[in-house]
Amino acid sequence: RIAGPCGLVIFGVTGDLSRKKLMPAIYDLANRGLLPPGFSLVGFARRDWADQDFGQVVYEAVKQHARTPFREAVWDRLAEGFRFVSGTFDDDAAFDHLAETVAELDKLRGTSGNHAFYLSIPPGAFPVVTKQLARSGLAKATGPDEWRRVVIEKPFGHDLASARQLNKIVNDVFPEDAVFRIDHYLGKETVQNLLALRFANQLFEPIWNANYVDHVQITMAEDIGLGGRAGYYDGIGAARDVIQNHLLQLLALTAMEEPVSFQPRALRTEKIKVLEATKPVGPFAETSARGQYTGGWQGGQKVLGLLEEEGFAKTSTTETFAAITLEVNTRRWAGVPFYLRTGKRLGRRVTEIAVVFKRAPHLPFDDTATEELGQNALVVRVQPDEGVTMRFGSKVPGNSMEVRDVSMDFSYGHAFTESSPEAYERLLLDVLLGEPSLFPVNQEVELSWEILEPVLKYWKSAGKPESYPAGTWGPESADAMMSRTGRHWRRP
Ligand code: BG6
Repeated sequence: RIAGPCGLVIFGVTGDLSRKKLMPAIYDLANRGLLPPGFSLVGFARRDWADQDFGQVVYEAVKQHARTPFREAVWDRLAEGFRFVSGTFDDDAAFDHLAETVAELDKLRGTSGNHAFYLSIPPGAFPVVTKQLARSGLAKATGPDEWRRVVIEKPFGHDLASARQLNKIVNDVFPEDAVFRIDHYLGKETVQNLLALRFANQLFEPIWNANYVDHVQITMAEDIGLGGRAGYYDGIGAARDVIQNHLLQLLALTAMEEPVSFQPRALRTEKIKVLEATKPVGPFAETSARGQYTGGWQGGQKVLGLLEEEGFAKTSTTETFAAITLEVNTRRWAGVPFYLRTGKRLGRRVTEIAVVFKRAPHLPFDDTATEELGQNALVVRVQPDEGVTMRFGSKVPGNSMEVRDVSMDFSYGHAFTESSPEAYERLLLDVLLGEPSLFPVNQEVELSWEILEPVLKYWKSAGKPESYPAGTWGPESADAMMSRTGRHWRRP
């Protein structure tokens, strides 16, 4: 679907996200013919730029990061709709100027009063910007068929109390159906495929429950470190950065019941139900792990430890690795632990959901025949090498009966010739279309904080995180938390 007449205003337009993701995504959408002809893009920032300077910055971002080929004609048409407004967030005059600019675009470009405001800014600035949007009249549509929407980036708060406060500030100005919270994991093809895998097939759902599943592991491992990101990351840490949002959303999609339809409300209802049933399992000294990377070797390169990275306090207790145990208290999942882990500077970059099955109730083989037989598993590889793998035992060729684990693989790259849009591209288009399915609502955000908060409190009282060398799979306590239950982490 092509978006109707509209425009987008980006606050924090000079930031990394804007240059690496938003600007290229806008160009790619235009290139695919999914933006309306008069689409306008307004940048708002402190710099003293003219429209042309802004255009140049977008141009460079597009040249460097866009995924589709550069086409002069598409670019020229898009660039006619670029405007820049210079100002600080507490500057009334700048917001009045922004309101005039937007009104002018309505006349000149036919954006028809439909505008989305993307807050690509530190959360501390949300209150002042939403207030300014209200004060200047920008937040309110002026006609019955017009819309105004606000897009916000995580972190949605620092804990439950601040998330509630933030939701209140935003909802005082924008009704919930005009609020689009970005969780870019929900824009990933493989994440959406979870719903297709589970609900379009007969094969998986009958065994997708506590009768057959032993446990579920959700891993988001990254090999990158935190150089250059101290300003955002120090004091935030791995759990707040990605477990509270991306990983709990993956859990919700993995564990939820079948929605009555894929209408946004139906989907949300099921996600909320499962998040309401999810609780952390203690005692946290045994069921969770928290680590901080030290220097080491990675990919043949010597890399710094967190405390040597620029901008991090030498005494920083920010965790770069976090693992927790959750339970989902429903009939479907009673007694099945969900293990979530994430970390920076781990062995490799991989995000996967592994549903690990119970062992067969009886094995009519000699003891030695099944020594190399593990547990069956269905692994959804979110990235890279997007696909799904099934692990099961098979007879080793030869005269004796010996069983060993093998894999059956589905890979997007091999199965499809179609390419998938980048997550931000898909999500931005959904904002402009007013399609809310892939955006967590306030209740989901608050429930996610509620789930995490007891563990965060425990960690706060537990002092420093344990060290792990860069390039490994995290601190020893992460392995210990699994081996205590007779299980182990998968080595992706
Ligand atoms: C972001 C986190 O939300 O996701 C980053 O703030 C992380 O710390 C990033 O690196 C990972 O995204 P992706 O799409 O590369 O897995």
